[in-house]
Formats: sequence, C-alpha cells, structure tokens
Amino acid sequence: MILYFSGTGNSLAVSRKIADATGDTVMPMAHAADHDLSKEDCIGLVYPCYDFNTPPAVRDLIPRLHISPDAYVFIVVTCGAQTGNSIWTVRRILRQKGVRVAYCHKIRMPDNSAIVFGRNPNDQLWKLERFAPRMERIVDDIKKRRHGSHFGAPGLAGWIAGIPALERKLLGSFRPSVNPRLCIGCGICTKVCPIGNIVLGDDKKAVVGNSCTACVGCLHACPQQAIEVGGKPTPKERQYRHPSAR
Ligand SMILES: Cc1cc2nc3c(=O)[nH]c(=O)nc-3n(C[C@H](O)[C@H](O)[C@H](O)COP(=O)(O)O)c2cc1C
Repeated sequence: MILYFSGTGNSLAVSRKIADATGDTVMPMAHAADHDLSKEDCIGLVYPCYDFNTPPAVRDLIPRLHISPDAYVFIVVTCGAQTGNSIWTVRRILRQKGVRVAYCHKIRMPDNSAIVFGRNPNDQLWKLERFAPRMERIVDDIKKRRHGSHFGAPGLAGWIAGIPALERKLLGSFRPSVNPRLCIGCGICTKVCPIGNIVLGDDKKAVVGNSCTACVGCLHACPQQAIEVGGKPTPKERQYRHPSAR
C-alpha cells in the first residue's frame, strides 16, 4: 500500500509510478488513518517537503497509521531542491511507534511554491526529465525491497523552520483566499484539497477553512484563478500540475 499526500500531483505521480512496478495500491494518506494497515507487508509514504520539513498534515497523520513493525516501509519525498529534515521527522515519529523505515529517497521535481514567489513552476519541467533515471532507480530499489537511506543529514534550516511558532508563520504566508468576484463555484478546489479544508458556501462560492496545510493545490487548480495568496492574482501560465495528474 502506498500512501501519498500531494497538492499538485508530484507525489501522486511518484506513488503511481512505484505502484505500477510493484503492483501495490495507492491511497491518499488522509484516508489511510481509518484503515487497518497492519496486514500490509509493504507500506510506502510519499509526500512533499515543506519549508525544509514535513508538511504538518503528514506529521499529524503518521501517528494515526496502523503499520506492522514487520512491514517493509519506505519513504520517498518530493522536493524542489532540498528535503531538509522532512525524512528525519517522519522516521523519528515511526521509530516511536516501533516501526523501522527500510528505505528512504528524495526526488527533485518542479517547485510548486514558486508561484507564490512570482516564479513559474512550469519553467522547471526539465527536472522531470533530468531526474527520470533516478526515479527509475528508486522504483527498482523498492521493487527489489532494498534497504538504504539516501538523503542528507538533518540541518539547522529544517530545525529552525520546524519551531512551531515559526512554522505557523512561514506556512501561514501560503494561506489562500478566494476572490468571490472570480469564483464560479465549480468545486474543483474542494476535490483537490488533500485534507477537505475547502467547501462551497450557501452562495456556491469556495470557502477556505482554518486547517489549511499550505499545499497550494487549490491555487494551481482553480480554472478561474480565483484563489490567491497574499491578495495577489494567480497568473494562469504559472499554474502547475504534474503532467500525469492533469
Ligand atoms: C509551502 C511549501 C513549502 C515548500 N518548501 C520546500 C522546501 O523547503 N524545499 C524544497 O525543495 N521544496 C519545497 N517546496 C516544493 C515542494 O516540495 C515540491 O514542489 C513538491 O514536489 C510538491 O509536491 P506535490 O505536487 O505532491 O504537492 C515547498 C512547497 C510548498 C507548497
């Protein structure tokens, strides 16, 4: 079973690629908390790096997963460039549950947060080609149930960014708002949000709840560019989704 958390499809695409090779099933991490996974002999966790660390939603979900200590457990983190402490954090939480991670790797992909900084994630599509051979190696390793930890040492940036007050501030700056003049109530954002934090209100306009995990999936998916961060409009040409998840 491969459990993924994904805002713009990078981690979903990686999960599907591994599942195609191994015959495993892919499931959103948010759904897995209610499942008995204790009979699964292979558990994969695939998620993005946020601010040199693990997305808070993933960190909150991992303790709720029922994983057998005998399972082959692997982690693949997708990132724009650096995974920081995102693998260490989850390894530590799993160790506290008596679960050992057999294999970890990171894979670079287009940085979906670039849109918030006025850059275009679509300018980074070259990463999909450049790192495709690495992806193949990761898939082969997992298929053959190899062991290994392929990521850097924990760093100060991840530790500092993980200080709860700072983390709230950093990720809070990604919090989206809905421009009601542009929203047509299509509901796409309600489906894209990996934690169900967006609903349609009585006036059929999207409403963002208080649990936003900063995945920016809604920002990228809105066909009307009605979802904004920091009150800035979202240019259509900078909206990104992994090509296989479009
Ligand atoms: C709030 C936020 C913070 C991010 N921080 C980092 C980071 O610290 N390092 C990095 O390499 N990429 C960072 N990224 C980029 C994502 O990790 C990367 O684009 C990932 O592949 C997105 O996966 P997804 O499409 O499955 O959501 C960040 C993205 C977001 C939305």
